[in-house]
Amino acid sequence: MNPVTDPRKMPETQRLPRHVGIIMDGNGRWAASRSLPRVEGHRRGVEAVRRTVRAAGDLGIEFLTLYSFSIENWSRPPNEVSDLIGLLKRFIRIDLADLHRSQVRVRIIGIREGLSADLVNLLDEAEELTRHNKGLTLVIAFNYGARQEIADAARALAKKVQAGLLDPDAIGPDDIAAHLYTSGIPDPDLIIRTSGEQRLSNFLLWQAAYSEFVFMPIHWPEFDAAALQEALREYGSRERRFGGLVSRNAMTGS
Ligand code: IPE
Ligand code: IPE
Ligand code: MG
Repeated sequence: MNPVTDPRKMPETQRLPRHVGIIMDGNGRWAASRSLPRVEGHRRGVEAVRRTVRAAGDLGIEFLTLYSFSIENWSRPPNEVSDLIGLLKRFIRIDLADLHRSQVRVRIIGIREGLSADLVNLLDEAEELTRHNKGLTLVIAFNYGARQEIADAARALAKKVQAGLLDPDAIGPDDIAAHLYTSGIPDPDLIIRTSGEQRLSNFLLWQAAYSEFVFMPIHWPEFDAAALQEALREYGSRERRFGGLVSRNAMTGS
């Protein structure tokens, strides 16, 4: 292939994903392999979140979505659930001012109903304070489940039909996308999962239709800027075709 059109030879920045999603997995196993309690893995996981947000911002990634708590995670022992919620609260309390200073815009996706009032207030505050920031958009998927998200979109559309505001025959994929929690956010170009597991675990099912996947063997507490770069390099070597025949990378350099 001609080096000018070969996407593998293009400068890294031209193939930077706009939106990276991360399934942050392996905190418990990281801790267990060091004979530490699981919560220690989650604590160290927060450090990895800090590193990753900084690295993503420095690289010029526009959207970073971090899967921090799934609806299914409520099935864990109550003390682990409260550790995880406590760590999210601490993260927002401690880091929000720094994130704001760095122009990070925070958005939280997931179900708010059933969460404690102080947590809901914190999530609202993080979004409100950073609403007009122009840097990285940090999307935190908390109490999130993609099937619930799609069901919620279906319900919202059904209500519009019932109210006579929408013709059911006119409903298409864009209408569904516009009613997802991620409305206004481009689909993830790259989804990374740590810890060696190779599954989505109910993360962004609709939005991941054409995402590239990179599965890494390291556990989430070990993730850092170098690991992100490695995933980005792998992403840069992929040829995205979107069902067509010619690589868009090769065509447009984007
Ligand atoms: C990721 O680590 C954190 C959450 C899922 C909330 P895990 O807690 O799933 O760690 P493993 O998979 O048990 O090692
Ligand atoms: C997915 O990890 C959820 C988050 C990272 C928040 P899990 O550890 O809950 O997923 P499974 O149970 O291994 O599929
Ligand atoms: Mg896990």
